[in-house]
Amino acid sequence: MTKANLAVLGATGVVGRHILEILKELEVPYNSIKFLSSKKSAGTKLEFDGKEYTVEEAVPESFDGVNVVLASAGGSTSKLFAPEIVKRGGVIIDNSSAFRMDKDVPLVIAGVNDGDLKSHKGIIANPNCSTSQLMLALEPLNKAFKIKRLIVSTYQSVSGAGLKAINELKESTKASLNDEKFEPSAFKKDIAFNCIPQIDIFCDNGYTNEEMKVVRETKKILHLDENLPITCTAVRVPVFVSHSEAVDVEFELPVTKESVTEVLKNAYGVEVVDDTDNYVYPVPTEAAGKDPVYVGRIRKCLAFENGISFFCVADNLRIGAALNTVRLAKLVIEQGLY
Ligand SMILES: NC(=O)c1ccc[n+]([C@@H]2O[C@H](COP(=O)([O-])OP(=O)(O)OC[C@H]3O[C@@H](n4cnc5c(N)ncnc54)[C@H](OP(=O)(O)O)[C@@H]3O)[C@@H](O)[C@H]2O)c1
Repeated sequence: MTKANLAVLGATGVVGRHILEILKELEVPYNSIKFLSSKKSAGTKLEFDGKEYTVEEAVPESFDGVNVVLASAGGSTSKLFAPEIVKRGGVIIDNSSAFRMDKDVPLVIAGVNDGDLKSHKGIIANPNCSTSQLMLALEPLNKAFKIKRLIVSTYQSVSGAGLKAINELKESTKASLNDEKFEPSAFKKDIAFNCIPQIDIFCDNGYTNEEMKVVRETKKILHLDENLPITCTAVRVPVFVSHSEAVDVEFELPVTKESVTEVLKNAYGVEVVDDTDNYVYPVPTEAAGKDPVYVGRIRKCLAFENGISFFCVADNLRIGAALNTVRLAKLVIEQGLY
């Protein structure tokens, strides 16, 4: 495999720090690597691969000679730097939502639609975290039974909203236990012992942006018909890591619990944990820090004739962000797509 010059943009963030870990775990080959942040964290020392690095403030010239940028620094930062990276001949794998629905930008989950990588023009988008885990479970089911209708309800952890939100869950929980007043800032309501049915802003149709991301990104990644009915309700819950999803899906072809379980058992990146007699099913705390998308509670859906319901849980910081970013970077390097 060739070796590339890498940069991690947003290296000091929640996702960025996971990218560092996973670059080592997956043994991504590199000639050189640099770590970039905003001015705020510039100068921070980071340990990577047995060496100490100093985080630098990202400026356009930071990308001179860089082949692959793993970016998780927010949409406005990606919009600012992506043209600079592409102009310099580099490829950016972007975690933000800035380019996901751009028709010239492939939106890719490694192991689901790798073929789309080849069409990139310098920017590759990593899907939203709740879409990512869903795709690993749904792609093999779509291939086998053809999705006709999809209903998704998410229970999303606070780490999906970054470091500030993780700290807010800690602080608000402490305040609540001590009967103290707490003023939320990362969320619109107090997250302690609560469920907040708003992730991202509201759209004109009454859905949130997060919910519409699931709807639109699912169609783009699975190459589904634009008119295929998909609906989503996204809820923030007081969990630190791992998003959970209750999924009801109707298929064109007949399905049984057994046929769906068999497909999922053989699916890339999926682990079936489904033995309700022994209380075996996926939960967020047990998925945190792990790579698979865990699927359980598989059952015939009572609402549709060819329907299946299941519960799926995955570490949002890994499969929903950093793991997929690093897997994509590795594919780009392996396939010489830079
Ligand atoms: N958390 C998740 O589960 C998840 C999942 C999928 C996608 N994402 C996306 O990934 C991105 C990062 O999320 P996160 O949760 O890691 O956020 P975070 O913890 O707030 O980290 C943000 C990172 O971006 C850097 N940054 C901010 N402004 C910058 C600028 N102008 N120039 C260069 N670097 C800048 C920050 O540097 P400083 O330390 O200097 O502030 C920090 O390293 C977001 O776009 C988010 O939507 C997150």
